[in-house]
Amino acid sequence: MEKLPSFHNKPIKFLVFSFTLFFSLIFLIFFWTWAMEDATAHPQANKGSSGNSTKAVLEESALVGVDKDVASAGGAMQKGSEVGIKDGLLLSSITPLDGVSVPYVSKYNVDNLTEFRESVGSESADEEEEEEEKVQELDDSDRKTPSDGPSRTGEKNKVTCDITKGKWVKDENYPLYTNASCPFIDEGFNCQANGRADRDYMKWKWQTQDCDIPRFNATKMLELIRGKRVVFVGDSINRNQWESMLCLLMGAVKDPRKVYEARGRKITKERGNYRFIFEDYKCRVEFYVSHFLVRESASRIGRRRVQTLRIDRIDKGSSRWRRADILVFNTGHWWSHHKTKAGINYYQEGDQIHPQLHVNKAFHRALSTWASWVDNYISPRKTRIFFTSSAPSHFRGGLWNTGGQCRDAFLPRTGTVSSQYSEKNLMVEEIMRQMRNPVTLLNITGLSDFRPDGHPSIYGRKSSNGIQDCSHWCLPGVPDSWNELLYYHLNSRIV
Ligand SMILES: *[C@@H]1O[C@H](CO)[C@@H](O)[C@H](O)[C@H]1NC(C)=O
Ligand SMILES: *[C@@H]1O[C@H](CO)[C@@H](O)[C@H](O)[C@H]1NC(C)=O
Ligand SMILES: *[C@@H]1O[C@H](CO)[C@@H](O)[C@H](O)[C@H]1NC(C)=O
Ligand SMILES: *[C@@H]1O[C@H](CO)[C@@H](O)[C@H](O)[C@H]1NC(C)=O
Ligand SMILES: *[C@@H]1O[C@H](CO)[C@@H](O)[C@H](O)[C@H]1NC(C)=O
Repeated sequence: MEKLPSFHNKPIKFLVFSFTLFFSLIFLIFFWTWAMEDATAHPQANKGSSGNSTKAVLEESALVGVDKDVASAGGAMQKGSEVGIKDGLLLSSITPLDGVSVPYVSKYNVDNLTEFRESVGSESADEEEEEEEKVQELDDSDRKTPSDGPSRTGEKNKVTCDITKGKWVKDENYPLYTNASCPFIDEGFNCQANGRADRDYMKWKWQTQDCDIPRFNATKMLELIRGKRVVFVGDSINRNQWESMLCLLMGAVKDPRKVYEARGRKITKERGNYRFIFEDYKCRVEFYVSHFLVRESASRIGRRRVQTLRIDRIDKGSSRWRRADILVFNTGHWWSHHKTKAGINYYQEGDQIHPQLHVNKAFHRALSTWASWVDNYISPRKTRIFFTSSAPSHFRGGLWNTGGQCRDAFLPRTGTVSSQYSEKNLMVEEIMRQMRNPVTLLNITGLSDFRPDGHPSIYGRKSSNGIQDCSHWCLPGVPDSWNELLYYHLNSRIV
């Protein structure tokens, strides 16, 4: 009788013990990985290379904050789940369904967007779950050079209307939502709540010369994306557009409680990843911050650990974008950053860190990396891909940090497009032409260039220290038009 319980207990004790041991180990490994990644991205590791002026320091701290986030957060997750099912090759034989469309942007207005130290802060707790992800890495051996793909010239179904030709006309039916009807406008874009009194900037419609861009119909859009994932990937300008999309869609939502972030997150500057669920339509509208689309990393030069940009590797978050149905990318502003521009001991390919590489070369390489990722991992049958051209900023009388302002702009500008032609622009154009998968360009550069009145200026974030924001856009406002273009493109293919 005595023996029975102990006989019975032993295996249970043993089981409990092994479980405890097992999970402790898992935890330790996870923590260690996280800590290592974090250490690599630590600012101190990299001091000597940064500038000495206030500006340089400011920029540096901005970049560091973000690097840290990406490196630590992405790193932890990735390491745990590198599974590497390379189904990319399967996709490569699929030919594009339609030729897509828009003529390519010719200006790539990279400006000094440093004022969004959109410190995506501490997102290390961010990378937990993502049930559906099994990370797939694109090996160098898998990479195809862009020229491997068939050229997209001679494609049919070209969208005939050139949406870049047009003008802004006053339309009292706008805006399509208000700061009160949309709970998702973050502080930096919520100009009305921050005291901006004029209203006209919300009431302009981009009237194309050769066709009509239909008004955004939230019901129709939600029907269009029913059961699907719409994913925005890029910098804070893309986030601007993503928030606009959420707000526009809210216009057709009867019960706001049925729209929520998957993990209950509030939209704040401190976070860079969100998945909003529209329950009634079983669709998700997501945003993932990625300033360069390629991987922010760290490496060793001699004894020193430095932050690097792996221009030969797609961003660590890519597994989260992959199975989206609609993907909207952008990148641009961060390529004019101090460090990016200087390019000293910063760009990395394989084990090599370039002692110095021109930012344009690095940009070209990075965009090519992005392009081949798209070609290898995205099925054009499932996913519609957009790339949003760069949004112009409108600082007058200085740069963002030297007193530049846009506060006195209340009306759209008339006349001709002012921004200068950029080499990077040509590169994007060239790379997109060589891609196998069709990518639709959302050519917003020119039309936004006419809208100096659309920026938050002093009505952005409250703690702006007198620095004006002439790069982001008030919501409601100009990004709503970008989404109308997106809506237009989606309809012109599916209908
Ligand atoms: C600060 O940087 C400038 C160039 O950016 C350099 O000429 C100067 O020597 C530096 N000063 C110090 C104290 O490092
Ligand atoms: C994109 O828009 C700009 C300005 O509106 C225009 O100059 C450029 O040609 C457009 N890109 C293409 C490929 O049409
Ligand atoms: C960015 O800022 C630097 C100095 O602050 C300036 O020299 C450079 O011309 C600016 N670049 C652009 C594209 O405005
Ligand atoms: C919306 O803006 C008005 C000013 O136009 C402001 O009084 C109100 O507090 C704002 N509401 C929200 C929810 O931000
Ligand atoms: C939006 O689309 C729905 C469904 O197609 C339609 O019933 C409704 O009238 C449209 N709304 C507007 C304002 O056009």
